[in-house]
Order: sequence, then C-alpha cells, then structure tokens
Amino acid sequence: MTNSAWITVSDFVRPAGWADAAAGEVRSRFYCEQLEAGQILFFPAPPFELTEHDQRLLLGQRWSELKLHKNVSYRPARDQLRGFAGDAESLACIGRVMRGYAAQVADFLPRFLRPYAGQWTPDTASFRPLQEEGRSLPLHKRNDLLHVDAFPSRPMHGRRILRVFTNLNPSKPRVWLTTHPFDELARRYAFDAGLREVAASTFAWPRRLEAVARALGIPGAGRSAYDRFMLRFHDYLKEHVEFQRECPKRRLEFPPLGTWLVMTDGVPHAVLSGQYALEYTAIVPIEALVAPTHAPIRVLEALCSRPLAASVRSTEG
Ligand code: SIN
Ligand code: FE
Repeated sequence: MTNSAWITVSDFVRPAGWADAAAGEVRSRFYCEQLEAGQILFFPAPPFELTEHDQRLLLGQRWSELKLHKNVSYRPARDQLRGFAGDAESLACIGRVMRGYAAQVADFLPRFLRPYAGQWTPDTASFRPLQEEGRSLPLHKRNDLLHVDAFPSRPMHGRRILRVFTNLNPSKPRVWLTTHPFDELARRYAFDAGLREVAASTFAWPRRLEAVARALGIPGAGRSAYDRFMLRFHDYLKEHVEFQRECPKRRLEFPPLGTWLVMTDGVPHAVLSGQYALEYTAIVPIEALVAPTHAPIRVLEALCSRPLAASVRSTEG
C-alpha cells in the first residue's frame, strides 16, 4: 500500500496551467511517473472549465424519466451520445454538455501530462447519475468490489487506461476503496488466475478474419493475450470472496468538485457510494509512458517471461 491516499496537485491550476512555467516540464514528468506507479492525483477543484450552468443541467435532469441505461456515455471520436432515451431537447442539451466536458478534458490532459501529448487517444466520457450504494448488478458488473479495469469491447494490447473523475455531488463525497498496487496483486494472484495458461496459448486471429470480426463488433476480436488475461483477472478478483474480505483496504472520500486522475488498469479500486460523477477515459500507448516497467503488461510479462502482445497499437482499439 502507498503511504498517502493521494497526491494533491497544487502547482497546476485553471486556467493558467503551471504555477511556475519553467518547472512545468519536470513537474509534468513527475506526475506521469506517479500515475504510472499507481498513485492517484487529486485536484480540490476541476483543473478545467466546468461551468455551474452545465453542472446544474446535469444535476437537474429528471433521470428517472429519461430511461437511463446505466451511465450516459459520450464517444468523442464519433460524437456519439448513449445511455438514455429522452426528448430531443434533453438529448441536445446533455449532448452539448458532454461534448464540452470532453473537449475541456482533452485540452487539459496534454498540458498537465506533457509526455503524453500527441500520443494519447480519447476513449469515452461518461456521466454517472445513479447512486452507487446498493445497486443490484450481476457480480462481474459490480463496481463495489475491488477490481482493475479491462474493457471487453476495446483491446488494449498493453496500452494504459487513464481516467479522470469529478464528483459533481453538491454535498456528498464519492467513496472509493483501494488495496495493494497491481504488482503486488499480480505476484499474489496472477498465476492462480491463469496467467500461465493465457501466456502459453498460441491462439491468434488470422489478420483478415480479425479485421472482419472487429468490423462486425464480435467480442474477442483483436484481443491479445494481455487483454484476455486482464479480462480474466477483472472477473477473478470480483469472484474472490476471501481476497475481497481480507485484503488491506484504504478508504478514499473524494469531496464535492474534487477531481482525480488514476490509471485504473493498475490501481485496484471499488466505489462504495456516491452519486453524480463525470468521468473521462484516455488511452496512453506504451511508447508514451515515462515508467513503462510499471505498466501491467510489463509486470505480467516479467512474471511469466513471455510477451503478451505482439505489438502495441496506437490507434483506437
Ligand atoms: C469503476 O469501477 O471504474 C467506477 C468508479 C466510479 O464510478 O467511481
Ligand atoms: Fe473500475
């Protein structure tokens, strides 16, 4: 476990950016290293613009009437809004807010984390209007159980998942748990979860078939051994009753408007309670990392002495 719950960032503020412009390069690299090593970076207020007007729009929707699916999700690359059904006016209004939010984070990220500039890609942005406490979800979808993130529909091939969260609840914290960092969890559980078998499997999609399968949206198309393992590990951890009960836990309470950055493929996390959060996911390729030995793919490869992805793709998965 790390010594402190998170690192509070006070030398980068909105809208100016780095408090000391000359130190920006070094500080930026330092923060990338911390993130990659499993730290959470915390801003007491969003380091990007998020107007009160937009916050009120998100908080003021009658979500129960909008047939909310799970979260509202927005894909910047496709300008596509998903997750609820509503009248044209609500759709246009929420679309505008989510598009603006995604653009603000996309502007902030490369200024704050300079080593990733020009290399990271946007994935999705989401708004989470449901109370997390007491949700009844199938085991593998439960986010109140400790897990590391892996996306069934987007193979990573070792690229890292960087997420930005903002607690929009006007009065209540968003409460998380974390535990041992990824390398420790991997040492303890990766082989039991099947790392050896996944690493030894020589299965690979024939290139042309893979392209067709991906175009058809067939789950599993384009997954590397790394992706197969991470999906398995995600489920394994959630299924592991004793791990969930016995592992050392740190409770984090993110206050209203608190904004935090975390690489959720390498930081086991669970959300215990909280309602109304904005979230943005960015994908960082291995080549952009400042401390690649901390990347889950490198940790796992060191454990099993095998490569787990043929090549790292920089394009969208
Ligand atoms: C997650 O487990 O990735 C969700 C965390 C949250 O919504 O706070
Ligand atoms: Fe998660």
